Amino acid sequence: MPDAADRNAAFAGARVVITGGLGFIGSNLALRLVELGADLLLVDSLLPDSGGNPFNVAPVRDRVAIEIADIRDARAMRSLLAGCRYLFNLAAQTSHMGSMADPETDLEINCRAQLTLLEACREVCPEARIVYAGTRQIYGRPLYLPVDEKHPLRPVDANGVNKMAGEAYHILFHDAYGIHAAALRLTNTYGPRMRIKDARQTFIGAWLRAALEGRRFEVWDGTQFRDVTYVDDAVDAFLLAALSPAAKGAVFNIGGDRLRLGALADALVAANGGGGFETRAFPAERKRIDIGNYYADDTRFREATGWRPKVAAADGLRRTLDYFRVHLAEYL
Ligand SMILES: NC(=O)c1ccc[n+]([C@@H]2O[C@H](COP(=O)([O-])OP(=O)(O)OC[C@H]3O[C@@H](n4cnc5c(N)ncnc54)[C@H](O)[C@@H]3O)[C@@H](O)[C@H]2O)c1
Repeated sequence: MPDAADRNAAFAGARVVITGGLGFIGSNLALRLVELGADLLLVDSLLPDSGGNPFNVAPVRDRVAIEIADIRDARAMRSLLAGCRYLFNLAAQTSHMGSMADPETDLEINCRAQLTLLEACREVCPEARIVYAGTRQIYGRPLYLPVDEKHPLRPVDANGVNKMAGEAYHILFHDAYGIHAAALRLTNTYGPRMRIKDARQTFIGAWLRAALEGRRFEVWDGTQFRDVTYVDDAVDAFLLAALSPAAKGAVFNIGGDRLRLGALADALVAANGGGGFETRAFPAERKRIDIGNYYADDTRFREATGWRPKVAAADGLRRTLDYFRVHLAEYL
């Protein structure tokens, strides 16, 4: 396998589009792709209450093109995707509770617009390599652990159902039309530039904010297992999925550092150098859509691409806190 520098040279001068490019993971990916010399276009609608935030790309603002546009708009997508060689498709409604409160909007963005986008690709950039940001939410409550890609799909919320369909459309377009698409099923991803205003993106955001403001945070059922991925490791996974021939037409789990939520909370307090938390029972409306214990078997992706997560939770949380201590006002 070529080393990372040789491999990533493929992005230099290449037209790369990131949908959801002003969001948490999309902006971190954008910063990396600017370093790699990509000709980068970020497409984002700045969906209210999402992690979309123009400040996320402030360090590279004059080195990327930004289009405030909606992936539901077929005409806009056809014009923006012309000439695209790599498409990182991250635009989404990401709130699980939000998807139950307003399932129709979740359906439009996470399902229907995915089809719109793929039809546009087929028309104007059929050779583009597409990496779709999928989610472990589509498995629902694990029947066994670790969860591999053969695990049945039985989502517990509307977001999971629509993301499942969005992923399936990508694979369908590969199978039916030969489009170069791959899907990554991400788990809880965290790091600089995530939404920390509240728990809409993930509970880790709400924990981080409380820790930064010197407040105690709530942990619901600290015995639950999760694996958490530091965003730089997720960015590596996206780049590898775009470049690896073995990723074409495939779906992959992406894991991270596996630990119980109580241990993750302890790691956050330690990284913060102080603070604390209370352990509580799950609120009823959350329990209904909670998946229980989850951790991924990501052997398939490791074997296909050589990827492995490099940043342990203790280190990742410290780096995240360092970022937000400087830029907190931009995220509240
Ligand atoms: N963060 C995680 O832990 C996690 C876990 C599993 C999957 N994912 C997936 O990763 C992707 C990125 O998530 P994130 O955490 O960076 O979320 P985010 O909310 O920070 O980013 C999503 C971005 O998409 C934009 N967007 C939403 N609807 C749009 C539309 N119709 N048109 C154009 N832009 C639109 C938002 O404005 C936002 O900037 C999503 O597809 C999400 O489902 C994330």
